[in-house]
Amino acid sequence: MGIDRIPEPQDWFVPNASMAGAFAPVLDEIEADALPVIGDLPEDLNGLYVRNGPSPAHAPHGRYHWFDGDGMLHAVRFRAGRASYRNRWVQTDGLKAERAAGRALWPGLKEPMPEGALPDDAMKNTSNTDVVFHNGRLYSMWYRGGAVYVVDPLTLATLGKLEQDPRLVGLQISAHSRVDEHTGEFIFFAYGNRPPYMHYGVIGPDGALRSFMPVPLPGPRLPHDCAITPNFTILHDFPLINDPEALARGRYSLQFRQDWPTRLAVIPRHGSPDQIRWFEFSPRYMLHVANAWEERNARGETEIVMVGTPYAMPRAHDGGLDLRRLLHTIATQGMDFELYQWRMNLTTGATREGVVDDILNTEFPMINSAWQGRRNRYAYAILMGRTRTLEQPNFAGLARYDLQTGAAVAYHPGQGYWFSEAPFAPRDGATEEDDGYIVGFVWNGEERRSEVWVSDARDIAAGPVARVILPRRVPHGFHSCWVREDQLAAGGRAA
Ligand SMILES: [Fe+2]
Repeated sequence: MGIDRIPEPQDWFVPNASMAGAFAPVLDEIEADALPVIGDLPEDLNGLYVRNGPSPAHAPHGRYHWFDGDGMLHAVRFRAGRASYRNRWVQTDGLKAERAAGRALWPGLKEPMPEGALPDDAMKNTSNTDVVFHNGRLYSMWYRGGAVYVVDPLTLATLGKLEQDPRLVGLQISAHSRVDEHTGEFIFFAYGNRPPYMHYGVIGPDGALRSFMPVPLPGPRLPHDCAITPNFTILHDFPLINDPEALARGRYSLQFRQDWPTRLAVIPRHGSPDQIRWFEFSPRYMLHVANAWEERNARGETEIVMVGTPYAMPRAHDGGLDLRRLLHTIATQGMDFELYQWRMNLTTGATREGVVDDILNTEFPMINSAWQGRRNRYAYAILMGRTRTLEQPNFAGLARYDLQTGAAVAYHPGQGYWFSEAPFAPRDGATEEDDGYIVGFVWNGEERRSEVWVSDARDIAAGPVARVILPRRVPHGFHSCWVREDQLAAGGRAA
């Protein structure tokens, strides 16, 4: 089997860091079985690794930003020591319209909004950001919020949109809406530029919309993730906004309001708007949650704990926030993160927050999904390198955190490797939280090919136990999930 080389630059692979090298799109949809492996692919690793990411199907309309490309799913299925690969675009309404027109119709993040466009509708829902497994299907989601696309996990064929209830139609459902695999519920949030600015809802395992409510915010915000526990959902209101004056001129410009607090909403999973409780913390911005859980303290009070990877808050020479540096880091995909914890006491209303680890610089935190919402011990993440070229982040390795002791282990295989979000895949029959593997794409710049690295979750520093050689380059991308074989077989119902 031949290995695809990076395609020769086509006319529209413009001199743009976000569309060069291993960022460049792939333009075909393929399948390949019995992939070659370096090392031993464990026979007790059975399931599906699927990752979303941008692969623009047309020459960009104006300047291209990495976040603009059409969503493409890349999946590797592991069965009894064998691996197969498949990729498919998510057939979004936008992609179909552009296919019909034979060209890109929507400008991206770097271009002004089209004349007359509404801020919520100015961009194409590329569905390129996140993917989760619910009710036997993959759900593909976009970070700016839009329709959720429903995809067959085995064929990667797009089956339609998640809009079985009229209240879901036109709703801007965000990436990082979450699945509770214990109850079979899909817990989502939606946000936009029009009041009430946020909605929250729960879809049951039967597909019915069980809960739905507005979550009024003081204005438009840029939430990216949420967190769930068995009884509560935590929604985010960080003081990062699109500058309203720029927005009125059809431009996007980030503004961080250091005079505003971080606000976290705690909502009973099936609660009502009058049960939303807001807790205030120091101003900060975070993309991704690692986990959240409920804890009972010595006084019998319930505390909600949330752990994630916010941006570090850079300090100026006078000790105050270096606002320019923070905004520059966020706006240019700079990497400067810390592992951080927020605590909310539901009885007293008291809050506490603080750094868990600021030695390693990591993002894209993942856990054993069976522990989502429960107090867990281990988190895994992508180790972020400091070196990068303009607008190209450096996903340099893997990290493992022990949240109980605070210990952390980092693994970096040397220069020339570029990692991708790597979910935890439990070993068949595992009962302990960390009994399994970390599975993720790696761009091997040395050999100029894409691979999937399988590492022992208990010993990431030993390097991969197996490297699956992919038949083609997988462009750098965003989020992923692991679907166990028993989940695939049961069609998502309790296995
Ligand atoms: Fe994300």
